[in-house]
Amino acid sequence: MFDSTTETVLKNLEKTQDDFWNIARETGNFLNLIIKTANIKNAYEVGTSNGYSGIWLAKGLVETGGHLTTIEFYEKRIIPAKENFKMCGLSDIITVKQGSAIEILEEIPEKEVIDFAFIDANKGQYLDYFKILDNHIKRGGIITADNVTSHSQKVKPFLDAIFGNPKYQSEILDLPAGLLIARKNED
Ligand SMILES: C[S@@+](CC[C@H](N)C(=O)[O-])C[C@H]1O[C@@H](n2cnc3c(N)ncnc32)[C@H](O)[C@@H]1O
Repeated sequence: MFDSTTETVLKNLEKTQDDFWNIARETGNFLNLIIKTANIKNAYEVGTSNGYSGIWLAKGLVETGGHLTTIEFYEKRIIPAKENFKMCGLSDIITVKQGSAIEILEEIPEKEVIDFAFIDANKGQYLDYFKILDNHIKRGGIITADNVTSHSQKVKPFLDAIFGNPKYQSEILDLPAGLLIARKNED
């Protein structure tokens, strides 16, 4: 589907998937489809790791003319992530921000509008990420989150909040680890 370099990078990263807590290939493909189908322009990812999921997201954003901001705490993961983005020719459309996800999300300018977010960092903080992102997600925007089945207890406060929020229409998809997808139907 992608150019041969990108396919090679993805295949190589799949060999160490468990060590870097990467999403499954099926999940990457689904997120890429959503980015393109919903014509996403301003995407955020919480939890970069070595950039595997970021490649899937950014490859979609190449087609939509969009941009990805991805957040990661550890420099030892940011270094390979940036290398992987570069190899795939994606550096120009990805901003990697290093630090605590909550702090970085809180720094998003008040008026910045986000139309897509992928949450995949500290499972116990999903609710905090959601509360901040909700201030920026536009009507019609999409929030996704991985591990909602594999870490169901840890993410329960987040799931309760988003399923209980009448502004959002949510579903859990039977992808590996469980993927939450939610659309903000009203402000
Ligand atoms: C599950 S991995 C992300 C995998 C990545 N989305 C992928 O599929 O390729 C979670 C990442 O979030 C980072 N992380 C965890 N808690 C964080 C926090 N509070 N702030 C920033 N990054 C965090 C971890 O260092 C780890 O690399």
